[in-house]
Amino acid sequence: MPAYPAISALLVWAALTSGAAQAAESDPALAILDGRALFEKLWVAAPSSTRASDGLGPYYNARACSACHHGAGRGHPPAPGDAPVSFVVMTARPDGAGGATPDPTYGHQIQTFAAPGLLAEGQVAVDWTETRVRLDDGSEVALRRPEVAVEALAHGPLDPATLLSPRIAPPVRGLGLIEAIPAAAILARADPDDADGDGISGRANLLSDEAGATLGRFGWKAASPDLPASTARAFAIDIGLSNPAHPEPWGDCTETQDDCRTAPHGDGDARGFEIDQKALDAVAAFLRHIEAPAPRPSDGDDTAPGEALFHGAGCANCHTPSYATAGGGEIHPYSDLLLHDMGPGLADGIVEAGASGSEWRTAPLWGIGLTDAGGGETSYLHDGRARDLLEAILWHGGEADAARNSVMAMPEPDRAALIRFLESL
Ligand code: HEC
Ligand code: HEC
Repeated sequence: MPAYPAISALLVWAALTSGAAQAAESDPALAILDGRALFEKLWVAAPSSTRASDGLGPYYNARACSACHHGAGRGHPPAPGDAPVSFVVMTARPDGAGGATPDPTYGHQIQTFAAPGLLAEGQVAVDWTETRVRLDDGSEVALRRPEVAVEALAHGPLDPATLLSPRIAPPVRGLGLIEAIPAAAILARADPDDADGDGISGRANLLSDEAGATLGRFGWKAASPDLPASTARAFAIDIGLSNPAHPEPWGDCTETQDDCRTAPHGDGDARGFEIDQKALDAVAAFLRHIEAPAPRPSDGDDTAPGEALFHGAGCANCHTPSYATAGGGEIHPYSDLLLHDMGPGLADGIVEAGASGSEWRTAPLWGIGLTDAGGGETSYLHDGRARDLLEAILWHGGEADAARNSVMAMPEPDRAALIRFLESL
């Protein structure tokens, strides 16, 4: 069973002392334990004898949240020849009005699994293109970028205008604290027209709904406003489970996918949605209680020189070291949570709410030194293309050109000190 940093002891204690007879809805600690169970639950296709666990799909990418967010850590691209786990391919095509719509046949995401009797939408194949960059001291670094193709498409070709955007699952630690940053504090850091002339703008992804504009802060392009919204979308799109925010029992199948729309689902009866509001709230409560990674000064190592280099190179202009939360605390996410144009190297061409095809949300750096997808493998950036922290930095472009250039110009010992500092966050 994956370990979630620091929550378990407290929760088990809280659950024991609260008395088993007490109803879960009135007990936040039990709701968190319920949420954890739902996060790890392996869903099955309907109809099944365990009605409370069915409704998977009909199309899906994984059977559990924790299949992609294993131990609350990050995902990774597939190894050559392997099917992807914790790596999804999003689709979108320009709508002609500055926005984007999902592929008309395959929907928001390519689901690589289907319930028994149905064909999966397709299989994802990843090829890597290598390039080399030469640093100012003459040393070379190999970089790779993914070329993603969808094979064995079950419903004919993708729309010719459809773009594919591969994404790894981000780590899900400390998200409750990010949710607790007042929107005004994030908006105060935005500089959409670069009024201060530092070459770095920083835009908020403002999501419009009936209630007006909400600040997007979760997801690689900050297209999700809060943890309940991220959770509801994940249940619908990744696992294929209906819920109050995504009532369709068929998840991400489109009107043209009759086989999927008419397949058995876990709705109806007394159960209502496959995931009800209480279950959504419990999962969101669980996510809020996964603690932020603690800073780790590496065995007596002095991280101060690396920290100075981080500031000197301008990393902190986007990777904001600290924010105050609504609860009066101070947190150290190392992100402004704003969108930045990162240049053509990272661009996926896909507009997501207010984010353009080359904009990404500054990735929080806390806990980045804890990344290890198993066997010492690491992968960074939205599609997991960077195999180590230096590669991640060398992909920075656009508004981060100057920061990347100063790392390329550093003497090797300085680069090493910068990386040591990152690993301590
Ligand atoms: C098939 C893999 C997969 C599964 C299953 C999955 N996720 Fe994710 N998750 C992702 C990916 C990929 C993203 C990034 C999406 C994006 O921004 O495009 C993500 C993003 C998130 C985020 C936003 C994190 C951040 O830092 O901004 C949250 C929260 C989240 N998922 C929760 C969940 C929950 C809860 C479940 C189960 C209901 C779940 N996920 C199931 C792959 C998955
Ligand atoms: C203009 C804003 C900006 C500046 C300046 C900047 N970054 Fe970033 N950084 C980003 C964005 C946006 C991403 C996410 C890009 C993506 O996933 O495609 C990112 C991602 C990263 C990642 C990978 C994180 C992950 O979770 O995969 C690392 C590491 C990183 N930056 C380090 C640095 C360092 C070190 C510097 C200074 C040399 C720096 N950045 C300067 C905006 C910036």
